[in-house]
This record gives sequence, C-alpha cells and structure tokens, in this order.
Amino acid sequence: MNEQVLERLKAAEEVFWKNDGYEHHEVIEDGAFTMADIRAAEERLLKFAPLIERLFPETSGQNGIIESPVVRLERMQRHLDDLYGTALAGSLYIKRDDILPISGSVKARGGIYEVLKHAEEIALEEGLIDESLDYSQFASDQFKVLFSRHTIICASTGNLGLSIGVMSAKLGFKVEIHMSADAKEWKKAMLREYGVDVIEHMDDYSHAVEIGREEAMQRDDFYFVDDEDSVTLFLGYAVSALRLQGQLEEAGIEVSRDKPLYVHLPCGVGGAPGGITFGLKAVFGDAVRPVFAEPTHSPCMLLGVMSGRHDEISVRDIGLDNVTIADGLAVGRASKFIGKTVGDMIYGFYTVEDQALLKLLAKLWEEEEMKLEPSALAGMPGAYKLQQEDPDMIPGTHLVWSTGGDMVPEEVWRRDYEEGQALLGGL
Ligand SMILES: Cc1ncc(COP(=O)(O)O)c(C=O)c1O
Repeated sequence: MNEQVLERLKAAEEVFWKNDGYEHHEVIEDGAFTMADIRAAEERLLKFAPLIERLFPETSGQNGIIESPVVRLERMQRHLDDLYGTALAGSLYIKRDDILPISGSVKARGGIYEVLKHAEEIALEEGLIDESLDYSQFASDQFKVLFSRHTIICASTGNLGLSIGVMSAKLGFKVEIHMSADAKEWKKAMLREYGVDVIEHMDDYSHAVEIGREEAMQRDDFYFVDDEDSVTLFLGYAVSALRLQGQLEEAGIEVSRDKPLYVHLPCGVGGAPGGITFGLKAVFGDAVRPVFAEPTHSPCMLLGVMSGRHDEISVRDIGLDNVTIADGLAVGRASKFIGKTVGDMIYGFYTVEDQALLKLLAKLWEEEEMKLEPSALAGMPGAYKLQQEDPDMIPGTHLVWSTGGDMVPEEVWRRDYEEGQALLGGL
C-alpha cells in the first residue's frame, strides 16, 4: 500500500497512483476469460441487431448496432494545455458513449447485452428458437407473453437501471429497479414512464444491490442483474474494444508500443471500465494503457486494488463519505471480481474533485458543444495527470471515454453548466 497516496485519499484530495502491479500483457490467452468470450458476445449482439433496429428505429443508421463515434478534441485540448500549463505530448480524442443509442450511457453496452442474453436463454428453454430464427421475432406478441411471466431485477446508481429498464420493458419483461439515494430524480421518472417498478433506497449503492439480490434469491421467477459480480455485463462492455479497433484503423490512428493508446475511464463499481479494459487488452495488448478515474469521495477501485482488498474494503473504512455529484460513480465498495481480474491491466488511477468535473462540463460545452453528465467528465483530465505525474509516459493518443449525458433533461444539465461556469469565473 502506498501510504502517501492513502493519506491523500483519506483527506479527499486529488491523487494519481501509478499502479505498481501493472503487467505488460501482450496477449491474454489464459485466465478466466479470453478473446473467444468477447467474440461470442459480439456474435450474439449481431444476431440481435435486427431486433434492436426494429425496437429502436434510431439505430437503423447503424443497422441495429449500438455504437458511438470517436471524435478529436482539438479545441478542448488547447484549453487543457493552457489550464495545466503544459502542451500535451499526443492527441486528445473522445469516445462518445454519452450519445450511445437507447439509453445515452456506457451502461447501454453491458446492460442491454445482459437482458438480451437472458431473453435468449428463456426462449431456448421454451423451445421457441433455433439457430435459423430471425431474432427480430423477439419483438412478437408470442415472445412478449412469455417474457411477461418473468421479472428482471437490478440495483443501480441510475444509468444501468435505465439501460436494463428500457430494454426489459420493450421486450415485455416485468422490471424492478432498486435505486440508490444518489440516483437522480429524472432517471427514476423516465423509468416509471416505461412502466418500470422503481424502488428508492435512502442508503448508497451497495445497500441497494444487497436488497435487490436478497429479493431475487427468495423467488424463482426473478433474474438479478448483479452489477457487482456479473460476467455477462463485463463481456458486453468488452465488445466495445473490437469496435474501437475498427474505428481507430479507419481514422488512421496508430496504436503500438511506441505510440500507445491511453484510455481514460470513469469508474464506479468497476464493471464498465473493467470490461472495456479487458477488451482493450485482448485487442491491443501492451499498446493500450487503461487509466481509471474516480471522484475524490468515492475512490473504491483505487482503494481496492492498491490495498489488495478489493471488495473487502469500503471508502467509508478510510473515513470518506461516498458523496459526489458524479452519481454514476458514487460507489463506496468495488466489484467483487473486476479488481481481481483486471487489476494488473490498469496502468494508473486518479481521483477528481466534484468542482473540477463541473468546470470541465461547462468548458466542454463551450469548446466542443458536447453535453455530458458530471460522471462522464472524470476521464477528461487523465492525459494531463499522466503527463505531470508519470515520467515514463510515452507520447501517444489519449482517448477520454465519455460515459453519459444524452438523456439528461436540458434544465438539469443547465444547472450543472451554470454551476461550472460560475466556478470557472472564480479561477
Ligand atoms: C455516466 C457513468 N459513467 C461511468 C459509470 C461507471 O460504471 P461502473 O459502475 O460499471 O464502473 C457509470 C455507472 O453507472 C455511469 O453512470
């Protein structure tokens, strides 16, 4: 354990920790998961693409594939160069999961994949499908009647609930979403409009998960999407790396050990950044360097990996309150398996203050006209933190993974924007 970093974590100060357990993996061929698992998930999503296109016509331009673009951030990079007083050695890009179709967040990747996989399993059990079936038939009344006899439960800080809720409701499942106290009102209201049963908890995310899991275990007809422990979510997120590979090739962006790709990932419980990290390592090997970003009040993954105690330690154990405006990242205890599975694939970790997130939110609108939610800004300072703190940083490409924003109601976003603007004025 790095005592200096720990002291600063306890004081809720911004920190950077270069992971001393980082391994220069070239290929992943042993371990619990392999590239074959990612490819199987990708194939399943391809099978379901006609269904997605039918249920969500906004995806027809991408033939039912839920994917987001990679965009250069020239103006924002210039602003950050000025802010940090250093010209970034490399180029800054953004992966726009904030505009991912259906639920406007990174959670659409894993969440929707898990609901589809579960629907497929039920249909197989019932003998409703064989290999030749066109999966768009999952939208038919026959399937809806079948799914209406099943309930999907999930606990969430908001965005996973949105993804699972919207997809499950469209297929005809009953859905119960346990929301932590951090979940924003508008996310709950949106789910209720879809007919989802939203259960509000006064406590934090870990508590909501515990209650949801207990409830599901007591009954047979319930399926629990376990954000703290789901391999299916993990593989759904990992598919993004295959897609990213194609996008980078198309854009002519080199990724090699001499010109690494640094990927800056906001982290809550760790499922989304963990799955993406695994996918990236499977595709790019040591040419990619994932970096995790967390709020100063909720650094559960940093704490879990640095201490080696993973889900056995909570940020509350070091005196932090787990209260942050970054609702999607308000998690005090890390996933049960992400740190253990991908901990040595994460190049570094850092924390960000809430006020910095708000300032970045305002600036990103002014410079690039992109509207993100606060959690989604966590990866934005990563390139500069690395450049300042890591003397071994090889110049390369920096990709900020923007994880949510598109569903945020205008008035909610504007409040954050105005707060960010006021803070910028005070610089
Ligand atoms: C906007 C946003 N970014 C990042 C994350 C982090 O994902 P995970 O909790 O899987 O680490 C979340 C989680 O809900 C989120 O809503």
